[in-house]
Amino acid sequence: MEPVFIVGCGDIGRRVARLVMERGGAVTALVRSEESAARLRELGIATVEGTLDDPDTLPGLPTRGAVVFYFVPPPGGGNVDTRVRNFCAAVTPGDEPRKLVYISTSGVYGDCGDETVTEETPVNPQTARARRRLDAETALRAWGKERGIAVVILRVTGIYGPGRLPLQQLTSGQPVLLESEARLTNRIHSEDLARVCVAAADRGDDDIFNVSDGHPGTMTEYFNACADALGFPRPRQVTMAGARQVMTPLMLSYVTESRRMDNSKMLEKLRVELRYPSLEEGLRASVAPAEGERGEQP
Ligand SMILES: NC(=O)c1ccc[n+]([C@@H]2O[C@H](COP(=O)([O-])OP(=O)(O)OC[C@H]3O[C@@H](n4cnc5c(N)ncnc54)[C@H](OP(=O)(O)O)[C@@H]3O)[C@@H](O)[C@H]2O)c1
Repeated sequence: MEPVFIVGCGDIGRRVARLVMERGGAVTALVRSEESAARLRELGIATVEGTLDDPDTLPGLPTRGAVVFYFVPPPGGGNVDTRVRNFCAAVTPGDEPRKLVYISTSGVYGDCGDETVTEETPVNPQTARARRRLDAETALRAWGKERGIAVVILRVTGIYGPGRLPLQQLTSGQPVLLESEARLTNRIHSEDLARVCVAAADRGDDDIFNVSDGHPGTMTEYFNACADALGFPRPRQVTMAGARQVMTPLMLSYVTESRRMDNSKMLEKLRVELRYPSLEEGLRASVAPAEGERGEQP
């Protein structure tokens, strides 16, 4: 495998790094602080310091001929991802990577009700957060076309896994929607997502892939299943009218949009075999993760 450069080496980045290093690949990551650098170096990951919020800190990124995994979220506010733009501008001509894998979000499709969402479904972002993601996708694809770089876009659904179950919501008494009013949501286990990213680097072309475990369910089912797995009481249920009064705007945006994601293109073209295709298996492995799949608690 070509050298790998991870831009945004958090939970998923560290999992991808582990998978790449297990097959003998060399990994470098961009870090914002000495603290993150020390943590990654302990895992065998080389580091370069810089922040995508300040272009002056980004000269000489090790991108030439590399596979880049870009996992930095857009900044808060506005409809534009300035971080992606700063990254693209920092890659000097001649230093182009061979391929870039970008984690976007299924939120770019907006509310699709009960319809099945494939990669052909038109985008219709309804939150500023989703508009920034679509802006990042558009900027990266245009840059890839202009500079001859294959850009693989992964439209990822809700990530869960070790260290990323909704403990805070379950212990703070936050409600969920009545089962009869709950909309569809989709998920992917963090370890499976990391494996999809590596498969995208190996087999993905200039293309877009939906990423989910292929088992849509309601957010209420998800919270109930998490509560059961963690041994907490199930959360109370409220109507949509009640939710509008008590839920945070972020949570409300998650529970008001509905999508039934189709993952067949991911399974067929990237030839991914999911380790956790069902929530039941994925939650069991999140509460008691296998050696090597623990990740780090955020
Ligand atoms: N949560 C979900 O369900 C969901 C769904 C779809 C997509 N996603 C996206 O999936 C991606 C990967 O997720 P994750 O859990 O691995 O995220 P994460 O653990 O939060 O890692 C993100 C990384 O980006 C780095 N970063 C942030 N701002 C930066 C900047 N200005 N310059 C350089 N680096 C910066 C962070 O560095 P520090 O370590 O210094 O903070 C961190 O290492 C993220 O973009 C996330 O938004 C999430």
